[in-house]
Amino acid sequence: MIYIKTAEEIELMRQAALVVSRTLAEVAKYIKPGVTTLYLDKIAEDYIRSQGAVPGFKGYSGYPATLCTSVNEQVVHGIPNSRPLQEGDIISVDCGAIRKGYYGDHAYTFAIGQIKPEIQKLIDITKESLYLGIEQIGPGKRIGDIAYAIQSHAEKNGYGVVRELTGHGLGKNLHEEPSVPNFGKRGSGVKLRDGMVLAIEPMINLGKKEVRQLSDGWTIVTTDKLPSAHFEHDVAIVDGKPVILSTFDYVEEVLAKQHA
Ligand code: MF3
Ligand code: CO
Repeated sequence: MIYIKTAEEIELMRQAALVVSRTLAEVAKYIKPGVTTLYLDKIAEDYIRSQGAVPGFKGYSGYPATLCTSVNEQVVHGIPNSRPLQEGDIISVDCGAIRKGYYGDHAYTFAIGQIKPEIQKLIDITKESLYLGIEQIGPGKRIGDIAYAIQSHAEKNGYGVVRELTGHGLGKNLHEEPSVPNFGKRGSGVKLRDGMVLAIEPMINLGKKEVRQLSDGWTIVTTDKLPSAHFEHDVAIVDGKPVILSTFDYVEEVLAKQHA
């Protein structure tokens, strides 16, 4: 069943989402060659707790960490470890937090130092596809309209769209109905309505769409070992329009300073 949120609940969910936005920005300060993803995980957990929130992923179905840190051919659900990041890598950092009983859940893909232009383009197009999906939200629209917008932008650029994992409703639970696939047909699926909160999260591969799970039971990788990018926003529907509860502004302020 789909849980429709009140205006008060949406305000609480904005606060939860913004805890995650600020956590990603805190993590962004430390992303550089030589740092381990375990270290980033500690930064994230300490920051979330300092905000009166708790990590949303840790303990979820037995997941062991605060962040999912997915490097290069890892698509999502990479477990933080002691391998140092290297120049030329990319890393998707996905983070969840629970504040006052509501989840925030969002993700950003970062470059480590200089990366190949073709990989930067993958990152840019994946982020664009997220916003194109969000822009579809409007009166009379359906989940399939979001899905189609994401899929067509990615495939137009020759990329593979992951089928096995999807976005989702978000609220008092990390994963609620409806499921929000990144591929689909215009005009299909659940009708969008006010009070829905959706975690929209394109996972886009430079090469083929096929993925597999590593023996750790979590990490999803591309079968062709080419890199994959992932961005995620939490979006409420209010008066027929999308309201993005999370923000990349804090992360991008940190990145702008690093490149200045
Ligand atoms: N954003 C990811 C998802 O919605 C978060 C995975 S959380 C985990 O699936 F705890 F399951 F790792
Ligand atoms: Co999610």
